[in-house]
Amino acid sequence: MREIYADHAATTFPRPPEVVENMVHYLRDIGCSPGRGAYHKSLAAARMVYEARGLLARLLAVPEPEQIIFTPNVTTSLNLVFKGLLAEGDHVLISSMEHNAVVRPLSRLAREKNVLLEQLACAPDGTLDLLKLRRALRPNTRLVVLTHASNVTGTILPVYEAGEMLAGTDTFFCVDAAQTAGTEVVDFAALQCDYLAFTGHKGLLGPPGIGGLCISRRAATVTRPLIEGGTGSRSEDEYQPDFLPDKFESGTQNMPGIAGLAAGVRLISDTGLAVICKERTTLMESLLSGLAEINGLTIHGTKEAAKSVYTVSINMAGVDCSDLSFMLDQAYGIQTRAGLHCAPLAHKTIGTFPQGTVRFSLGYQNTADDVAAIIAALREISAF
Ligand SMILES: Cc1ncc(COP(=O)(O)O)c(C=O)c1O
Repeated sequence: MREIYADHAATTFPRPPEVVENMVHYLRDIGCSPGRGAYHKSLAAARMVYEARGLLARLLAVPEPEQIIFTPNVTTSLNLVFKGLLAEGDHVLISSMEHNAVVRPLSRLAREKNVLLEQLACAPDGTLDLLKLRRALRPNTRLVVLTHASNVTGTILPVYEAGEMLAGTDTFFCVDAAQTAGTEVVDFAALQCDYLAFTGHKGLLGPPGIGGLCISRRAATVTRPLIEGGTGSRSEDEYQPDFLPDKFESGTQNMPGIAGLAAGVRLISDTGLAVICKERTTLMESLLSGLAEINGLTIHGTKEAAKSVYTVSINMAGVDCSDLSFMLDQAYGIQTRAGLHCAPLAHKTIGTFPQGTVRFSLGYQNTADDVAAIIAALREISAF
């Protein structure tokens, strides 16, 4: 049976050969830590990290590569932002489509540190009316956090417009680009945000365990590091360096991860984001129109390919979502994710809490044939 992987919102699979090869190249031919020695292999490692930062800076339109900090994943990047910026009495606004990577650390800060956490209610299709943001802003609003796209419905939020609204104010703006980096235009400069958190193992086609945070100069000055320690720089100083990226990068880096991520980013840049976005829209249009013709399906989200990323959630009348996901895998080789997708808030917003949905999330490897097979399988199951 042909396998169709439709869980790219969780992690990308299969990884492009270039990604695997560059990781092997690092482990086999370089193998050393950057910035810790003057011998040629250590310098080669430093060059590799430098190039990876440069590739990411170009893809994400970050003015200076050192404004990109490597972290294990977007979850760590978000924790860095929240724990490094917020203090007692700060007001924080988030959308009601956020992932637990946003909700949980902020909820703890609200409970234990008296941070005032407020949600902006999105519509049942996941869209956000920016008037709600304008009305909710207060003099003590320290931070606004928005996901660029929902990992449940794929709905794109108006992050560029929010950035425009917040530009020039004292409120910091953080964008969670977990679902968009590599598959949608993510332009740090145009977003006018202070923090852009990304993860390497989804649209950026890299391995798990590597991600990052793009940080504005003003945010870098006031944000405290989450982790402190050896950086290979200013070793005589008992305090953490205050310059980028060292202020936020301590300990031995995930070098195989950086190697894989660099190869993924290079592949995306060589292909061109415009081509990737166009292919995505075409695939999503055929998936959404095919789904709309099947009886008994509820499709969540905007139902418009141009307003969403590669992801859509559905429910089938009378079929539990775990059972549907299991059937799709066992009988048709189609791999999806059922349940709450670590985003219970988003499910409450779209009206699918606590049962959840079956999520189809495509990636650059999926084809029109995969979409046809998904539609045929769902049609067959719904006709039982
Ligand atoms: C919107 C969003 N934010 C955060 C995360 C967390 O990503 P990671 O596990 O790579 O930290 C995810 C992962 O599914 C996500 O979809």
